[in-house]
Amino acid sequence: MIPPGKTIGIIGGGQLGRMLALTARRMGYRIAVLDPELACPAGPVADLVLTAPFDDSKALRRLAEASDVVTYEFENIPAESLRQVASLRPVFPDPAVLHTCQHREREKQFLQSSGFPCPKFEVVASASDLGTALKKFSGKTRLKSSAFGYDGKGQLALEPGNDPETAWAQANIPRAILEEHVPFVRELSVLVARNAQGRSLAFPPLENRHTAGILERTVFPARLTDAVANDALALARRIADKLGLVGLLGVEMFELPEGKILVNELAPRVHNSGHLTVEACHTSQFEQQIRAVCGLPFGMVAPLCPAAMFNLLGDLWTKGEPDWSPVLALPGGVLHLYGKTQARPGRKMGHLTVRAPTPEDAIRLGTEALAPIRQSAGLPALAL
Ligand SMILES: Nc1ncnc2c1ncn2[C@@H]1O[C@H](COP(=O)(O)OP(=O)(O)OP(=O)(O)O)[C@@H](O)[C@H]1O
Ligand SMILES: [Mg+2]
Repeated sequence: MIPPGKTIGIIGGGQLGRMLALTARRMGYRIAVLDPELACPAGPVADLVLTAPFDDSKALRRLAEASDVVTYEFENIPAESLRQVASLRPVFPDPAVLHTCQHREREKQFLQSSGFPCPKFEVVASASDLGTALKKFSGKTRLKSSAFGYDGKGQLALEPGNDPETAWAQANIPRAILEEHVPFVRELSVLVARNAQGRSLAFPPLENRHTAGILERTVFPARLTDAVANDALALARRIADKLGLVGLLGVEMFELPEGKILVNELAPRVHNSGHLTVEACHTSQFEQQIRAVCGLPFGMVAPLCPAAMFNLLGDLWTKGEPDWSPVLALPGGVLHLYGKTQARPGRKMGHLTVRAPTPEDAIRLGTEALAPIRQSAGLPALAL
């Protein structure tokens, strides 16, 4: 067990690292962060900040030496860097788990070979592969880069008649998977923590809506039948077991019209859809991750209240810093800003969590409070 007072190393200093660090501090831990950006969001709340690329051996060694246990908040860290740190200090989740989850081919092959339901896919490494793969699907498909995808980047929606040469040139990626388009009724995620003794505990499912590949909002609890919720929870726990996870895993899922679930993606870290657990659950995803990697008992995941979380993207800053008054005046509203100085369209700058008596109230209150802020930035109101 790594008790409070010890130092947790975090590779990656984005908003996830910042929220992990803030939680760890409250629990009495010290924090060391490694990130390439000097002005990274976790920097101001860490005890030690190392500014270096993720493959800088000297910085990795310094992080390991300063830490009692190391975790990460970002998927695109070279697995070799994690292995180097793991030769000096415990790293959770294990570098092998990141290696599987950070690459779509490996991730999908893991899911398929373990018998976990996922969309049909083909591996593609050339225009001619793409031509062959397209013939295996009768309907719409998605070409997804094998490496470095996030927020829908590196993806191309394709129709059966599309020319493979043109599509491959447009995608401009070395390797990809071609995946069937899934006509889902809902997107879900389940966050599951698992400890070194093999005990796992999952938060109740979250309901997600994406726009242009980016998470727009999360609703809690997800509005599901008990049967679907139980399937989603069981599936996430079985995946965590199969991976031998120690830490927290976000499992993104599609719910099909008849209630069947397919796994979309795995993220062996805290997850954007889990931000509302800070306000809506006894224990937040951040604390559960810290508890799992430090070998502390898990905290209760029981819900405290329904909630909705809205991502605040850089698009809101097009006419300067937004006036947050409507959000600050919202009873049950909690504004989180990540301290990023540069706003860009699509960049996650913060989020708003709204607590309310029902999920529908939380959605409505958040949507209404954000409408004038969006309007000032020249953006239409969000759909309910
Ligand atoms: N096969 C599919 N059929 C229909 N919609 C899809 C499919 N794959 C992805 N999407 C949509 O695009 C979104 C982003 O896709 P995905 O989660 O695969 O990519 P990502 O860029 O890695 O995202 P993340 O930021 O979650 O890592 C999904 O949440 C979903 O809304
Ligand atoms: Mg995703």
